[in-house]
This record gives sequence, structure tokens and C-alpha cells, in this order.
Amino acid sequence: MTTAANPTATNSSGAKRLYLCATGEVAPGTALKIEIEDLALAVFNVDGEFFVTDDLCTHGPGSLSEGYIDGDVVECNFHNGQFNIRTGEVVSPPCIVPVKTYPVTVIDGRVTIEV
Ligand code: FES
Repeated sequence: MTTAANPTATNSSGAKRLYLCATGEVAPGTALKIEIEDLALAVFNVDGEFFVTDDLCTHGPGSLSEGYIDGDVVECNFHNGQFNIRTGEVVSPPCIVPVKTYPVTVIDGRVTIEV
């Protein structure tokens, strides 16, 4: 599922906080694709903890938000490469390059990242 993200806010240091979705939009054990500005992101709910990675698999055209999720591991639906959702590290080939992760802050029930 893909959702258009909500507005953004910029702080005094120039960092921009992106409001991605409400926590209730991502059930435990699932992911949601968010497209915002020039980013395509995957928001994961791992047992009530939220994590955000790039949605695009580092091995090819796979969308990680559409992958198979087992605990804190996501398996790409193209060639079954696996990543740790918390760290972005590769768990299983054919992926070699880690997927980018973003520190998440939940604010007023919304999943946000700062870029
Ligand atoms: S595109 Fe993801 S494992 Fe190949």
C-alpha cells in the first residue's frame, strides 16, 4: 500500500522533519510505502516499534514495503534477499549493499524522520 505523506516542518537548524504517516496506518508485522519529496520510503512496524528504510532494494527493483516480513527481517519479493529492518544490514544474499535507514521519532501518534 502506498500513501501520500503529510506536510513537513523545518527547524531552526535547517533540518526538515517529514511526517510520514499515523502509527495506526501500519499494523505490527507490516510495512507501508511512503513517497515524499524525492524519497520512496518503507515504514515498518516491528512489534509496535517503527523503523524507516529506503523502499527500493539495493539489489534491484524490489519494493521492500511489499516484501515478506519476519520479525525484524524483510525479504525482498524479487530475489529473496533479506535486510535487517532495524539496521539496514544485509541478512541474506543476493543483496550486498545495506539499505539506508532513517532514525524515527514518533510525535503525537505520527511516524516522523528528520532529513
Ligand atoms: S531486487 Fe531485491 S533481492 Fe533482487
